[in-house]
Amino acid sequence: MRVGILTGGGDCPGLNAVVRAAVIAGTQRHGMEFVGFVDGWRGVLDGETVPLDEATVRPLLTVGGTVLGSSRTNPLKDGVEQGVARVRSQLSALGVDALLAIGGEDTLGVATALHEAGVPVVGAPKTIDDDLSATDATFGFDTAVQTAVDACDRLRTTGASHHRAMIVEVMGRHAGWIALHTGMAAGAHVTLLPEADVDLDAVGATVREVLARGEAPLVVVSEGAKVHGAEAVKNSPRDAFGHVQLGGAGDALEHEIAARVPGLSTRVTVLGHLLRGGTPSAADRILATRFGLSAIEALAAGNLGTMASLHGVDVVQVPLADATGVLRTVPDSRRAETAGLHW
Ligand code: F6P
Repeated sequence: MRVGILTGGGDCPGLNAVVRAAVIAGTQRHGMEFVGFVDGWRGVLDGETVPLDEATVRPLLTVGGTVLGSSRTNPLKDGVEQGVARVRSQLSALGVDALLAIGGEDTLGVATALHEAGVPVVGAPKTIDDDLSATDATFGFDTAVQTAVDACDRLRTTGASHHRAMIVEVMGRHAGWIALHTGMAAGAHVTLLPEADVDLDAVGATVREVLARGEAPLVVVSEGAKVHGAEAVKNSPRDAFGHVQLGGAGDALEHEIAARVPGLSTRVTVLGHLLRGGTPSAADRILATRFGLSAIEALAAGNLGTMASLHGVDVVQVPLADATGVLRTVPDSRRAETAGLHW
């Protein structure tokens, strides 16, 4: 079997580890051959590939980003039938029998449609946002949170030196997992998520209380938090999957805090794509490797239209369609854990 691998959507630490595990296990256990599609679905549409063999992938475990490149190209943008036909004809021209699509809800949504149209495909979930409903975790999230926590630890010391409120904006799009875990691990005084209304007066009161104790307030805000009642959107066009670029929540919050705490010095740090870069954590290397191994076993067993998924401590295969149905956001129960506490 000749398998084409692609990585689509926003990159994250661990993508290369999936590719490495899939190629090594597929080659050694099942005699599969591999080819990499360049820049996600764009490479499939254009038939642009790179060779992938054991020697190519062996050094990849610790390498951040994706050596295959990524894009937010949507092959179904101009119609499912047309998109599927183009994908099918490229696969057949290249002698590719099956696809391993590594991606988030958009990439896996395309994989689902291809599967429904009879294209042999399996998936592996990735995203720093950790917002896919069919898996308990995605790789990339652990690294992103650790990077954000490291940044907060540093910002806290400079904030203390200058008696400033430090506001840290983190990615996560419509899900607050990165903000929730960063806030908890960094000991933030205020953590704002997209899932809850923002009470600006309560934020101001907490900031004043922390200052009164002689400490520098640390505020973590998710890029999707609705500081002014709606997500802060940058003035940019929608991508091929209909997403706008979020940004500005930290600045909006700074303005509101300044209005409620006169004379306070504030600084905003937008961590942005820093959270997507760099070498994966040990936990992400392991999860990515297990997903790659599982996806190959699914292909070998003919268990198509499935995605590797973490259920508790086990990696299992679930239908691809389940991955993209509902966004996994932070439930009330997780917010209730810390509600009303003054850190
Ligand atoms: O989905 C991953 C993610 O990093 C989100 O957290 C963020 O909103 C978005 O991608 C940013 O996308 P881009 O790389 O297109 O700016």
